[in-house]
Amino acid sequence: MTKHFLEIDNLARRFPAKQGELTVFEHASFGIDKGKFVCIIGHSGCGKSTIMNVLAGLDTPTEGHVFMDGREVSGPSLDRGVVFQNYSLLPWLTALQNVTFGVQARWPNWSKEQVREHSYKYLDMVGLGGGAELRKPAQLSGGMRQRVSIARAFAIEPKLLLLDEPFGALDALTRGTIQEELLKICDATNQTVFMITHDVDEAILLADRILLMTNGPHARIAESVKVDIDHPRDRSSIIHDPGYYPIRNHLVDFLVRRSKELSGAVAPETDAQAAGAHPKIVNPAADATAGNTSAEHSAA
Ligand SMILES: Nc1ncnc2c1ncn2[C@@H]1O[C@H](COP(=O)(O)OP(=O)(O)OP(=O)(O)O)[C@@H](O)[C@H]1O
Ligand SMILES: [Mg+2]
Repeated sequence: MTKHFLEIDNLARRFPAKQGELTVFEHASFGIDKGKFVCIIGHSGCGKSTIMNVLAGLDTPTEGHVFMDGREVSGPSLDRGVVFQNYSLLPWLTALQNVTFGVQARWPNWSKEQVREHSYKYLDMVGLGGGAELRKPAQLSGGMRQRVSIARAFAIEPKLLLLDEPFGALDALTRGTIQEELLKICDATNQTVFMITHDVDEAILLADRILLMTNGPHARIAESVKVDIDHPRDRSSIIHDPGYYPIRNHLVDFLVRRSKELSGAVAPETDAQAAGAHPKIVNPAADATAGNTSAEHSAA
């Protein structure tokens, strides 16, 4: 029986290695409710992109299952829009065509004009409507390619957005603008998002929950931290919220110290308490629902 819109049940991914096998991550269980924004944070190489590929249906887990809307994910689908870490645009198409390609597939009955108009809406959103959209990926900068990839994923208005460090190659100004656009879209459309980021401030700004992943190999999702800060949020005022720094300090402490200590070790929640942390910590396997406080405790 599935409880959440997205249900990740005891997922593991192992790859064949020279000696035996490499377990990238294991025992990953969490749920995401419809309309929730969940970020995942962990050190480079711990397996974040590998998890996302499984959620996208592009890779098969060695163990465990992923259910979306009650159905098991078994391949890619237009219900899931993906922004890859390395953009992955079709090099022979222009930026505009990279976007219209997905829009046409999603709404096959739309007229050419409708498809174009809809695609431009999202290209404009990422600041690429002024002529750059007619260029091919090779003629665009890294940041521009990343923006095309964001427009392409958003334009199909998927049930689930999967974002792998989508703002990594952007300058601070563009990054801020797109973060705020993303917040607006999510607030307005009840979009469900799973996003990988290295940026703790970005995670707190955007997420309802932040999953913390221990270092690999044998990485685990150690905790789910609730971001209990009201919407609408914006970058300038969020830092004045009394909840902001306790969460931030908890995340930084995890990345600096506990992600390593917890690798393949002790029960996560107990350790969070020992660290004297203030935000609400949830055992991700027990629950990841924002509204459900049964599995929650304040680590204060
Ligand atoms: N196809 C594969 N075959 C073998 N090992 C792989 C494969 N794909 C990923 N790995 C290994 O899995 C581990 C996790 O990789 P992954 O790309 O998921 O990390 P990540 O957390 O996304 O890192 P980053 O933050 O640097 O993007 C790495 O050690 C990587 O070498
Ligand atoms: Mg990655």
